[in-house]
Amino acid sequence: MRTLVLIKPDGVMRQKIGDIITRFENKGVTLIGLKLISVNKEAAEKHYAVHKGKPFYDSLITYIMSGPVVAMVLEGKDVIDITRKLVGATNGAKAEPGTIRGDFSSGIDFNLIHASDSIETAQYEIPIFFKESELIKYERADKNWL
Ligand code: CMP
Repeated sequence: MRTLVLIKPDGVMRQKIGDIITRFENKGVTLIGLKLISVNKEAAEKHYAVHKGKPFYDSLITYIMSGPVVAMVLEGKDVIDITRKLVGATNGAKAEPGTIRGDFSSGIDFNLIHASDSIETAQYEIPIFFKESELIKYERADKNWL
């Protein structure tokens, strides 16, 4: 199972890349794709198509295009649920302490990170940012302990 994670411009500009990736590494999921990108309008609109028409849609598109983004693909058993738990609730003000948003975000607009919410969503989102050839298959050295 795979999931897409984006560290959004606030996470990159606030130097949280290392901290965020460390949490995924420590938890035991496998990082199989990673890049620093500028999200263009086409990708932004495709990624957030499900939110088109909502009041926050325009600012969401502006936000994701406003600075560098780290895109990554994580792989592992139950990786979607595990990742969503580590990320925390959408609204940083309500996210539990200990989660990424709970520790670093205090609102819903700048919530640092995006993670796919289902298998179907991951299958839709990953190809927006990665070609299959950019995803690297390998086994973690500690896999028998996870
Ligand atoms: P994300 O997980 O990237 O998915 C959609 C994003 O829309 C969400 O994180 C927030 O950054 C943003 N957003 C802004 N307002 C809302 C809202 N009222 N409900 C859900 N998402 C919102």
